Amino acid sequence: MDKITVCMGSSCFGKGNQATAEAVMQFIQEHKLEDEIEVSGCLCSGHCASGPNILINDKLISDVSQQSIGAVIAQELGLEL
Ligand code: FES
Repeated sequence: MDKITVCMGSSCFGKGNQATAEAVMQFIQEHKLEDEIEVSGCLCSGHCASGPNILINDKLISDVSQQSIGAVIAQELGLEL
């Protein structure tokens, strides 16, 4: 199972990761990936300057946004959509 972790530390949260987390959930629902991707949140991992951040299978992806996140997930997981 693939794993997406959205940083919910105050810096990433303040830079829009709440909206990004919602976009991740929406993407998973739209593509019926509930059984393939597990989503969780985490606290600050010390990479605030390059945030907002998410982890996809423990790989740090920086400067994510609500708009770009779907394409980023598809690319990282090699999804054919
Ligand atoms: S708040 Fe996300 S890396 Fe610090």
